[in-house]
Amino acid sequence: MTIHIDGKMTVRDLVGRYPQTRPVFEKHGIDYCCGGGKSLSEASGERDLKLPALVSDLEEALQASPGEAKTTEKEWYAAPLVELVRHIVDVHHGYMKTALPRLRSLVPTVLKAHGAHHGDVLRQVQELFSALDTEISSHLMKEEQVLFPYIVAVEAHVRDGAPRPRAPFGSARNPIRQMEHEHDSAGEVLAKLREVTRDYALPTDACPTFTAMYEELQRMEADLHQHIHLENNILFPRAIELDGS
Ligand SMILES: [Fe+2]
Ligand SMILES: [Fe+2]
Repeated sequence: MTIHIDGKMTVRDLVGRYPQTRPVFEKHGIDYCCGGGKSLSEASGERDLKLPALVSDLEEALQASPGEAKTTEKEWYAAPLVELVRHIVDVHHGYMKTALPRLRSLVPTVLKAHGAHHGDVLRQVQELFSALDTEISSHLMKEEQVLFPYIVAVEAHVRDGAPRPRAPFGSARNPIRQMEHEHDSAGEVLAKLREVTRDYALPTDACPTFTAMYEELQRMEADLHQHIHLENNILFPRAIELDGS
């Protein structure tokens, strides 16, 4: 079956329905989690990319694995929220808790060794990473200690008749709005990191540590995009609906 793609389709729709298109958006530096509501025409225009080239890459990905739409992520639209929350915490929060300390050590090491020739780029990388590190660390804690336990308790109330949890923040919409705002800000820092490193182009004199730092930053970008996508596009809308029921 051929899936026809046109420029009016949104990035969010495609990633939600066909998770196998995600690597294509990653490859072109298109943010599918925070900026996911954009159409393909808008997203390609922002990246100075020709729409037909993007469409052809997407169609190729869909032809290569047409059946994948029914598996993995698709299930998160229907799975109990307690399972989705556990998946986010185990896989994505778990990843950040190992990647951030690795980068906290790699970033200053590379700046020290290569500052003489690449100080301009590396100082910006350090500044951006440090801002992201501070914000993400407190963000994960707020989700794990406040918002996620509330979502799980609301689901237990609606599904199993457990007592309705007390909401110190009013409706779930309030902390969710704050989390989305922090996601936007993390997405902007990731985009800026990509810009200052010219899409993580390694200089010819890069040593293995420099290479490892760029690789880890790119892994972190891909993981955060998927993490934020699961929260913004699946968990949060479902939690808001449940909270209002
Ligand atoms: Fe999270
Ligand atoms: Fe989050």
